Amino acid sequence: MNAKKRSRVSLCVLALFLGLAAEAEPTRITVQTEAQGARINPAMWGIFFEDINFGADGGLYAELVKNRGFEFPEPLMGWSKLSPGVAKGRLSVLTEKPCNAAAPHYLRIESDGKGLFGVANEGFRGIGVRQNEPYDFSVEVRGVSGSPNLKVELYSSEGALLESVELKGFSANWEKRRAVLRPSATEARAKLYLLLDGKGSLDFDLVSLFPANTWKRRAGGLRADMVQMLADLKPGFMRFPGGCIVEGSDLTRRYQWKKTIGPVEERALLINRWNNEFLHRPAPDYFQTFGLGFFEFFQLCEDIGAQPLPILNCGMACQFNSGELCPLDQLDPYIQDALDLIEFANGPASTEWGAKRAAMGHPEPFNLKLLGIGNEQWDQQYIDRYARFHRALKEKYPEILLVSSAGPSPDDRHFTFAWPRLRELKADIVDEHCYARPDWFFDNTHRYDNYDRNGPKVFMGEYAAQSDKVVSVRNRNDLECALAEAAYMTGLERNADVVRLASYAPLFAHADAWQWRPNLIWTDNLRIYGTPSYYAQQLFSRNRGDTVVPVKLELPSSNPRTDSRLYASAVRDDANGEIILKVVNPSSESRDVVIQLEGARSVRSGATAVVLTGGKPNDENSFDAPQKVFPRSFPVEIKSPMFNQAVPPLTLMVLRIKV
Ligand code: AHR
Repeated sequence: MNAKKRSRVSLCVLALFLGLAAEAEPTRITVQTEAQGARINPAMWGIFFEDINFGADGGLYAELVKNRGFEFPEPLMGWSKLSPGVAKGRLSVLTEKPCNAAAPHYLRIESDGKGLFGVANEGFRGIGVRQNEPYDFSVEVRGVSGSPNLKVELYSSEGALLESVELKGFSANWEKRRAVLRPSATEARAKLYLLLDGKGSLDFDLVSLFPANTWKRRAGGLRADMVQMLADLKPGFMRFPGGCIVEGSDLTRRYQWKKTIGPVEERALLINRWNNEFLHRPAPDYFQTFGLGFFEFFQLCEDIGAQPLPILNCGMACQFNSGELCPLDQLDPYIQDALDLIEFANGPASTEWGAKRAAMGHPEPFNLKLLGIGNEQWDQQYIDRYARFHRALKEKYPEILLVSSAGPSPDDRHFTFAWPRLRELKADIVDEHCYARPDWFFDNTHRYDNYDRNGPKVFMGEYAAQSDKVVSVRNRNDLECALAEAAYMTGLERNADVVRLASYAPLFAHADAWQWRPNLIWTDNLRIYGTPSYYAQQLFSRNRGDTVVPVKLELPSSNPRTDSRLYASAVRDDANGEIILKVVNPSSESRDVVIQLEGARSVRSGATAVVLTGGKPNDENSFDAPQKVFPRSFPVEIKSPMFNQAVPPLTLMVLRIKV
């Protein structure tokens, strides 16, 4: 062997030795069980709701008829003419002598009576119905001429009749008529038919079909399976109604909470800002009916035990769109809306807005404690407006914690501009947003370690790892993204004294009607599944604990041959006397970890582990395999405060240990 070859061999031996030596070095997590960590906000892990991706209309709001009141700018959008035989007739959308002056359009169907004639509604990318389940049909109807009967029918996408009921004898005045439909088969893309049988004409408004089995069986309520998924997260708070939808593309299209309460039929329709936001994902039929309005939001929060966190427009339209501003000297009505919302939520029934809440069936207050001023705003324009809200709201309701905005990015110039100014204004909580590649989340787990402990607190109000890039249609909800978020959440948890609230965004997406991905939960007209990110959120939320327990993480010295990343945080659950340790191993190799519960004298039996893992970083859940990446729990035997624990590859592991 010549000298050159010999030195190459010895280099290899050395590298091998160093590699082995590095592997021999253990990974160690020291959990300082006796240290007094910060109290964790019981509401820390929450949810972000926005009517994007058919999240409300066509989603959580269980109405199955699209454009039920013929108020869309194209008044027959969602409806099509039906003339199955030889009958001839006419459809017209009119406004004279309306059923409801606030939403004046209605449909007149005239038929020559030579067969059936009428309309079909396509629903929200079809109407999802289940075999033999009851569906509440209702319609405002008025007889105009003749005495035709009305057939109300459900048809499958293949044209099979699923249900038919007949209504007769219509008066010359508007009258609400109802029927219960029980489809003979399950169908994801059914259509609803309204057919005149006989010569004459009838007027129709507010054509509605709801599953009777809504959440808590509330008439005109919410889709039960979607609410159940939220309840299963045990969310600490619910942010509502967004998101950019708060801002509107211009101020006329902003979200105005007062227009979303009271009788549903009087809530004025608004074009959904996601209707035409992305030319690559147009949704021309996307409108807001506000059937899920602010009263329903507060009620939902109460149902699922989440603190309401409304976000209000602060006199600024979306700065990604028009950026229209309400002049500072005209801001009072916006501020008044915020004051009135607090009264609506918390005021006694003797107050103006408390009375409206009571009239809607909830005399008790909703116990609002948090309020967001603006969504993703930036620049001096925002600071000026926030300052005015802050002053007025603090004067009347000093107990309400206000959320202010640091803009759309976690580290751009808007962000660095906003923070010192918000600090100066003594803002309570600053809302930070981040949509970035998984690496950003892995690299930023220490982001909050050095945040000022005396300044405003943080609300990580929107975040999600993007497997491709922001706004890309190629983004996937895969395991790697969930692990990146989980790793980041260990950093939020370790810094729970600063980070008081956090929510993944967006929440829901309809598989046939989305504008944005990734999302936490996917639905179609009948089915639903949680993404790996959903289960990561759930594991943190359900294992929240009461106080932070500091952890020391010692990783083997870096070795190019192995991926030594590991992330951990721990909390104490007071009621159960348990230490809850969360460990994230995003690498493709199992890790043997020495865990030391420093300060614990003994460990009681009954420890458990929950593991969220999968075979590949790009593993995803789907309608057909909703539990491919799913938390599995099992008992673990831990006999002493120092023990070895294998953490499988691509895993979020939650250990609950009684000490
Ligand atoms: O979550 C989707 C959008 O992302 C939100 O509406 C907005 O606040 C952010 O830009």
